[in-house]
Amino acid sequence: MLTLVDRAIEQYAVEHSADLDPVYERLREVTWSSAECPQMQVGPLEGRLLCLLARMIGAKRAVEVGTFTGYSSLSIAEGLADGGTLVTCDIDPVTTQIAKEHWGQVPWGEKIESRLGPAAETLEDIEPGLDLAFIDADKVNYIAYWELLVPRMRSGGVLLVDNVLWSGTVLDPQEESAHAIVAFNKHARSDERVEAVMLTVRDGILMAVKR
Ligand SMILES: C[S@@+](CC[C@H](N)C(=O)[O-])C[C@H]1O[C@@H](n2cnc3c(N)ncnc32)[C@H](O)[C@@H]1O
Repeated sequence: MLTLVDRAIEQYAVEHSADLDPVYERLREVTWSSAECPQMQVGPLEGRLLCLLARMIGAKRAVEVGTFTGYSSLSIAEGLADGGTLVTCDIDPVTTQIAKEHWGQVPWGEKIESRLGPAAETLEDIEPGLDLAFIDADKVNYIAYWELLVPRMRSGGVLLVDNVLWSGTVLDPQEESAHAIVAFNKHARSDERVEAVMLTVRDGILMAVKR
């Protein structure tokens, strides 16, 4: 798990957050025993945050960029209102298959629609009026995903962007993804279409509300 705070503190926070359906622990175990970069999974604390935010705004239409093994998808879908849908996309069929196997284990998994292929192509086909969007894929394309999503958000819709502190290396970026995150953070900061706050949860989450 990627986290900027002390692991014991992180664990304490998890233990003092809402109980989780056992499917999340199964998904965590499978991911850590089979996936190449299991630390990409958002984990229980960020997962609950996504779920509760979706619930708080009564989200019905959500989009996710970067499915991986489906933990964040499942968390967002759990918080969607009745009849809600989440479109999530990824380029990796193997991790997407793991995701689907776990979504099938809980009723709210039916709310998730998976699309395989480059995220930019998926986003171009999304109709406007989104309540919630979560960006968590290739960092070099964050600005492109943001530009595709902001016009598709309804006023009051919430955009969430993961890894915006990139293990703290945003303070001294040395490689491509770190430079991309720094450029993205600058881009979002100057975007008058949204009001944003950067949260120091896990690896940093930018939360923005469309004006
Ligand atoms: C950090 S992981 C997502 C983790 C996920 N949110 C979770 O909680 O399990 C990033 C994912 O983005 C996917 N990805 C990378 N480039 C992509 C692209 N161009 N289009 C769609 N997905 C992409 C990767 O295959 C990977 O599964």
